[in-house]
Amino acid sequence: MYRINDCYQKLPGSYLFSTIARKVAAFTEANPDKPVIRMGIGDVTQPLTDPVIKALHKAVDEMADGATFRGYAPDLGYAFLRDAIAEHDFRERGCAIEPDEIFVSDGAKCDSGNIQELFSTDNKIAVCDPVYPVYVDSNVMAGRAGTYDKETGCWSDVIYMPCTEENGFIADLPKERPDIIYLCFPNNPTGAAITKDQLQNWVDYANKNGCVIIFDAAYEAYISEENIPHSIYECAGAKTCAIEIRSFSKNAGFTGVRLGYTVIPKALKCGDVSLHDMWARRHGTKYNGAPYIIQRAGEACYTEEGRASIRGLVDYYMENARMIYGSLKDMGYTVYGGVNSPYIWLKTPDHMSSWEFFDYLLEKANVVGTPGSGFGPSGEGYFRLTAFGTHDNSKAALERMAKL
Ligand code: MLT
Repeated sequence: MYRINDCYQKLPGSYLFSTIARKVAAFTEANPDKPVIRMGIGDVTQPLTDPVIKALHKAVDEMADGATFRGYAPDLGYAFLRDAIAEHDFRERGCAIEPDEIFVSDGAKCDSGNIQELFSTDNKIAVCDPVYPVYVDSNVMAGRAGTYDKETGCWSDVIYMPCTEENGFIADLPKERPDIIYLCFPNNPTGAAITKDQLQNWVDYANKNGCVIIFDAAYEAYISEENIPHSIYECAGAKTCAIEIRSFSKNAGFTGVRLGYTVIPKALKCGDVSLHDMWARRHGTKYNGAPYIIQRAGEACYTEEGRASIRGLVDYYMENARMIYGSLKDMGYTVYGGVNSPYIWLKTPDHMSSWEFFDYLLEKANVVGTPGSGFGPSGEGYFRLTAFGTHDNSKAALERMAKL
């Protein structure tokens, strides 16, 4: 009899957002007269912008013509997109990232789940707590997490770095030396942003201790304050210790279109082995590239018109963030995030657990959020709301909450 990868059997429950979707589906089936407002998963609601739509249409027409039709995309991504990324996301910010250090993919979720394949299973990972569940779950699947303790909600071989009110939701350097450090800034789920000096500390720590940082910058477009780095490569020495993952989902609204990329600098080496070459080998073997039409849509995000249109999307959601943050404060909630991030992180009232508050909000206000404990034990007692809804729905949800 064949044997399965029994690491999957160790995973408790289902993926956080699948659990929430099931609970909400059960509620709406039982209460068809109570329309719910979804502020749970960070999924966008605004349509793709004009420059993106035009680029998509043009690329579709090219695919209909024998002279311009394209088959397989180059497996690391088309040069037109990698050049635009290198120029606008990095060189304009003073980061010397070359187009051939960029690997185009179909999204940051896949990349952040797949990247762990480059590392031996006996590496020890460190994660912020609370954390985007993909980092931990993908390491569990790979057999790198040890055993799960139901009482603590922790894996035996994972180093948890609590992000609390006391440390401003920025983890302290770990006491035990990890091999792989996952960082996400601006942070999902707490909405916290890291300053350049704070991030430099992590880069220095990683270089000194032989660690690799996997830096998820999916929310960088939401940075509104000075001195918050948009890329880890703004820090000196990051090219020898860090991989950066980016997304077109949250800025350009590509959650249903799918496009992202990963940067692996050529200077990032384990001994004399290049991680860049390893990822190139993996891409070549396991991936046939993001579709041509989607990469053209990605390219359109970098034209002057495209950039202005994306700024408009981000501004739209940030107006929600300001409204949610301000209204919750007025209602007496303790609230964080929402300034450099589309996520608002609030303390549950009356010492309710995160899931108790989830049920309470769903039943009494018909509003869906994400329980903080779903992101890790230090998320207990917190709750996440997203600003990715429409203005009308965000406003209506707040009105319902104010009546509770
Ligand atoms: C979230 O809600 O945390 C994100 O939407 C999940 C994701 O981007 O995969």
